[in-house]
Amino acid sequence: MPNPKPKLEGEVYYPSEAVKAQANVPDWEAMAEHARHDLQGFWAERAEELEWFQKWDKVLDDSNKPFFKWFVGGKTNIVHNAIDRHLNTARKNKLALIWESEKGDQQRTFSYFSLNREVSRFANIIKAMGVQKGDRVTIYLPRIPEISFAMLACAKIGAVHSVVFAGFSVDALQGRIEDSQSKLVITADGSYQNGKVVELKRTVDEALKKCPSVENVIVVRRVGHDVPMEASRDHWYHDMCALPIANGKCATEVLDAEDPLYILYTSGSTGKPKAILHTHGGYMVGTYTTLKYVFDLKDDDRWWCAADPGWVTGHSYIVYAPLILGATSFMFEGGPAYPYPNRWWQCIERYGITVFYTAPTAIRGLMRFGEAWPAKHDLSSLRLLGTVGEPINPEAWRWYYRVIGKNQCPIMDTWWQTETGMFMITPTPTVPLKPGSATRPFFGLEAEILDDAGNAVADGEEGYLVLKNPWPAMLRTIYGDDERYVSQYWSKYPGKYLAGDSARRDKDGYFWIIGRVDDVIKVSGHRLGTAEVESALVSHPAVAEAAAIGLPHEVKGTAIHCFCILRSGFAPSEALAEELRQHVAKHMGPIARPEDVKFTDKLPKTRSGKIMRRVLKARAQGLPEGDISTLEE
Ligand code: PRX
Repeated sequence: MPNPKPKLEGEVYYPSEAVKAQANVPDWEAMAEHARHDLQGFWAERAEELEWFQKWDKVLDDSNKPFFKWFVGGKTNIVHNAIDRHLNTARKNKLALIWESEKGDQQRTFSYFSLNREVSRFANIIKAMGVQKGDRVTIYLPRIPEISFAMLACAKIGAVHSVVFAGFSVDALQGRIEDSQSKLVITADGSYQNGKVVELKRTVDEALKKCPSVENVIVVRRVGHDVPMEASRDHWYHDMCALPIANGKCATEVLDAEDPLYILYTSGSTGKPKAILHTHGGYMVGTYTTLKYVFDLKDDDRWWCAADPGWVTGHSYIVYAPLILGATSFMFEGGPAYPYPNRWWQCIERYGITVFYTAPTAIRGLMRFGEAWPAKHDLSSLRLLGTVGEPINPEAWRWYYRVIGKNQCPIMDTWWQTETGMFMITPTPTVPLKPGSATRPFFGLEAEILDDAGNAVADGEEGYLVLKNPWPAMLRTIYGDDERYVSQYWSKYPGKYLAGDSARRDKDGYFWIIGRVDDVIKVSGHRLGTAEVESALVSHPAVAEAAAIGLPHEVKGTAIHCFCILRSGFAPSEALAEELRQHVAKHMGPIARPEDVKFTDKLPKTRSGKIMRRVLKARAQGLPEGDISTLEE
């Protein structure tokens, strides 16, 4: 007998029979129940679906909370599961990756067999440069296949990759290289962005002026520009490939489940970005399981995660999880609207994409161009859609559902973070959907909404989102800063993981994410810190003090607005405001360019001198200023 339809409140979209018939999780309740009663057994079963050089002794070691360990005593390597194990199966000749250039004039495809050759070759090259297990390697590459190869090559030999999004600029890159003490940087001569060339290698040169740890730079040729190459430090990748050491055979290092896989810098509430540390074993199991269950991947699917590999979404769901599943992924070099706003829809049609995953900001941006653009293309290959990065407004959800999914494709709204490594609050395809809600916690997870004092708030009320159970792909620490790991995530409510988001839960147990409660701004889904924008502003000679806040924006979700106090001798002007916006873009990257810069004589501060961004935000929106008893004035 089919399950009776649960009676849910509000606007609800139920799965069709076709969706239910093929779901990898046909019975959500049963799976959830299993994980609720036997968390370790649930994850052990998932881990057993993968290959281990040696099985673990213990699924979860929680003897030193919050420093949780997973699959302790197990020996593995994520690359063994992402590539090597497929080579003994029929998947050997299956396409692992299809890539198309921004202009659409180039396509490159890699089977699992050829992916192995590319990754092994890259691994041999970085080994020859003296990179060893545990060493950090900074990767600063555009969306080209080599970014995957480089990441996988590091993992294969046990080196720790630190990918810096290629849309970041000098200061962001330099800070991340310096903090990670990378020996090697892998970059390209440049990248294409909306028809223009971005000079990546020159940015690296600029950043390396202050990074003495770097011994070598590998440069992949992408745009064919002449770039300065420093003898003995800089090496063209294609030259290295011609050397005898660059052969296609390289043994995959046997690692402990808890050996580091990568660090990825992300913005926190204060100060410098933090290096989130993920490890081989748990991350492999968590990303594999979530992609399999949430996006329901099958062997004949063509998966497209339209994020950038430079963010966690790309790490987990472009590079690692799809390969572990043996899937065929599509990677597109460009953006959605260049040269025309049908670029993505054209790719879906051309490659027969079946499952498509993007961010609400992209949907909102494309919606503005109207329905005629997607209507030019046959999108009937699609069977599932997804979103990530920020709350999706119901209007954008409905458009995505109707215009792209033709009312046939459930939308997986996945809430998660760099820190969580994998989807946390998310539907699976058979879960009834409500536009704007990420639905319920994934199997084995429990979420709560708390008030300041740590009491659960009533249904429908807003509070702090926390997670109660550990999960395999969780961050292990902030690299080099265990103390900050504990204070940032586990101290406000001891024993519970503080996500940094505010949220509501409705009567049906569905979660509605509202947004960040700290000084993190999500601009077009990109995570930026007010502190980084402010420090870029005060590096300009005219600025004495600065405050950055996020305000609602129709397409970007949130946009950066800045308030500056000028040094004596400088006068406010339109030209100066524009110069400051450009200054931030130049130093941090174009994604951080403020929407608007205003000049002021005073900033609201607490008596201890902290800027009250909350007050600035309320004033800018004409809202009540809230509790200002600690205000200095
Ligand atoms: O505020 C939440 C928002 O993105 C934050 C995490 O950002 P980041 O570490 O860059 O990772 C983004 C990709 C996983 C969260 O704290 N966020 C992410 N997904 C959603 C979301 N907000 C609402 N709905 C989502 N589906």
